[in-house]
Amino acid sequence: MRLLPLAFAALLAMPALASPPDPGKVAFQQMCAACHGTDGRGDGPKAALLSAKPADLTTLSARSGGIFPMLHVIDVLDGSEQIGAHSGLSPMPDFSTLVGGQSAALDTPGGTVLFTRGVFLSIAYYLESLQK
Ligand code: HEC
Repeated sequence: MRLLPLAFAALLAMPALASPPDPGKVAFQQMCAACHGTDGRGDGPKAALLSAKPADLTTLSARSGGIFPMLHVIDVLDGSEQIGAHSGLSPMPDFSTLVGGQSAALDTPGGTVLFTRGVFLSIAYYLESLQK
């Protein structure tokens, strides 16, 4: 009988243990952390090798008047906004190929585009959670 409270506590703790990891965080670690750093501060292992410093993604809101620039982030990812385009030298990868670039809206039957846009959105929400 003394074990009952323990068993109950273990049961209560289970959903927390079993909850899946944040998909945006997982995607960020896979696709972005090498340059932007695991915590988004722009100090990833590849940063020193690049011609432009990867942006500190924890200060996006602070640099946008305190409001998280959700559209800016999504636009950078899907290629609608070409950062560093003036120099043409930005080492920020072009992820727009993942969603088919500008014609992405037409490519729905396979669902790839929607899936990729979902990944971008998850990453954007994750970045929002990192803001200082
Ligand atoms: C190969 C290195 C590299 C990878 C990988 C990379 N980035 Fe970047 N990123 C950069 C660099 C360098 C800049 C600054 C570009 C410039 O100023 O031209 C940048 C800029 C940005 C910006 C604009 C920041 C601002 O201040 O407006 C965002 C948003 C961004 N990256 C998000 C991401 C996300 C999300 C991923 C993963 C899906 C990612 N990046 C992957 C190198 C990278």
